[in-house]
Amino acid sequence: MSSPEITYLGFDWSTQTLKAVIVNDDLQILQEAEVQYDSDLPEFRTHGGILRGEQGEVVAPPFMWVKALDLILDRLTLEGADFSKVVALSGAAQQHGSVWWAKGCSELVSSLDSKNFLHEQFALAFSLLDSPIWMDSSTKKWCNQIENGVGGPEALAQITGSRAYERFTGAQIAKVFETKPHLYESTERISLVSSFACSLFAGKIAPIDFADGSGMNLLDIAKKTWDTKCLEACSDHTLLEKLGNPIESHKCIGNISPYYVERFAFDEKCQVIEFTGDNPSTIAGMRLSQGWIAVSLDPNMYSALLCFSNGSLVRKGVRDRLADKSWELFNTMLDSTPRGNFGNMGLFFDSPEIIPRGVGFGKWLWNRSGVLVNKLAPENEIRALLEGQFIARRVHAEDMGFVIDENTKILATGGASANKSILQVMSDVFNAPVYVQDSANSALLGAAYRAKHGLMYHNASDDEKPTFETITSGVPSPTLVCTPYSDAEQVYKPMLERYKEYVQSIVKENMTY
Ligand code: ADP
Ligand code: XUL
Repeated sequence: MSSPEITYLGFDWSTQTLKAVIVNDDLQILQEAEVQYDSDLPEFRTHGGILRGEQGEVVAPPFMWVKALDLILDRLTLEGADFSKVVALSGAAQQHGSVWWAKGCSELVSSLDSKNFLHEQFALAFSLLDSPIWMDSSTKKWCNQIENGVGGPEALAQITGSRAYERFTGAQIAKVFETKPHLYESTERISLVSSFACSLFAGKIAPIDFADGSGMNLLDIAKKTWDTKCLEACSDHTLLEKLGNPIESHKCIGNISPYYVERFAFDEKCQVIEFTGDNPSTIAGMRLSQGWIAVSLDPNMYSALLCFSNGSLVRKGVRDRLADKSWELFNTMLDSTPRGNFGNMGLFFDSPEIIPRGVGFGKWLWNRSGVLVNKLAPENEIRALLEGQFIARRVHAEDMGFVIDENTKILATGGASANKSILQVMSDVFNAPVYVQDSANSALLGAAYRAKHGLMYHNASDDEKPTFETITSGVPSPTLVCTPYSDAEQVYKPMLERYKEYVQSIVKENMTY
């Protein structure tokens, strides 16, 4: 039986925006709100929510994320939210980013003054004013240090599930430890963006959860504890204390901080459920099961992830340059070109790519004869961009062992999943049907669903703990939006092979990276 009187609140601190959603007990959306960092908080001068350095550094100010929370709570109120009905809240956040809390932070988050905005109270909260985020590629040296410290990349992958990656938090910590020792010393706690956001509600520094913790190169994913060798390879004995003990992702952290009760009329019994990374939360929001390119939601399951840093922002840049800043015109131009783009192909990297490794910044265009060219007609350049992006995703997914065959179904999420012309290209390149959910933001929905599951799990007796599937069983299934054309495999198969050759040639060109 659902109760009309209770609601759940979810947040998603993603790269470009903070989003919030309130759902009812049937998990239907009641209110939504969004804060765009670039346009709503222009004083931080971010572009796409980030700031870039000259050596591959990519950062964002945690103070901006706090200010965004002040704004979004007001926006939810304007949308008609009644916070007194919220029985539990949870959240998702971009993975890997680290928030460095200054000494005194535990005291600060536990004694917030409800007469003032949060941001007025967080001015001195952070030892590192800019948090390194997932797009950072400046830590190659420290990746090597960690891999060498535990006996090589294979050994590190055995323990933590991944070889060392530049964006993973371990290498970022090692870098701060070596290059900013005073700052490391003046840090009381290190949070991930997710556990930082959770701390804002919990009135204490929240633990890191197992799922997001798996993106640090520090967690022993079998034992679910920090690995001593990995910690030692990054910094000193104080790291263990700075990280705190990791916990399960569905855990109840406690009652909401009195700040929200006094300022926004939340019920004092509202429970804060552990926050997690946006990818685990997306898996929850999509309620993925076998048969999709993914996984079960059992808390003991692991998932494989392919992450590319050149996605939406690159598409938006090309749209602004060639299509008058309009997705409508972008789609008209895209739709005016044929599948396979007359043999033209392109690869666009505005920032160093995560997969494939070793390609630098740049744009490469090849004509039908495989010759590098400087220019294509604007509409062909747009198609080359999209086909190139999806061909890359397919090639690397297959390389990693994903089987793409007649049973494959793709579930699209994120801002661009509202764009049917883009999804059609994806459908053709993968030769598979594409589905979407009602809301484009699965990480956000996942946060609200997890709030309900976490609360029910917490309240149930030991032998009646509900599964995530039971809690979300009433949510409508995804909708089919595109199916591939019958010639898709014939058109794209040779292009997958051409992509592999082209990548090798550009990796060689950029050996120094
Ligand atoms: P992030 O996680 O990086 O914050 P989101 O998943 O919230 O990103 O999606 C935001 C992105 O979606 C923006 O870069 C925007 O350009 C893109 N986007 C929004 N609407 C469309 C559209 N109709 N077609 C293509 N891209 C879109
Ligand atoms: C995953 C990753 C990205 C961020 C984006 O490893 O780096 O997907 O989580 O928000």
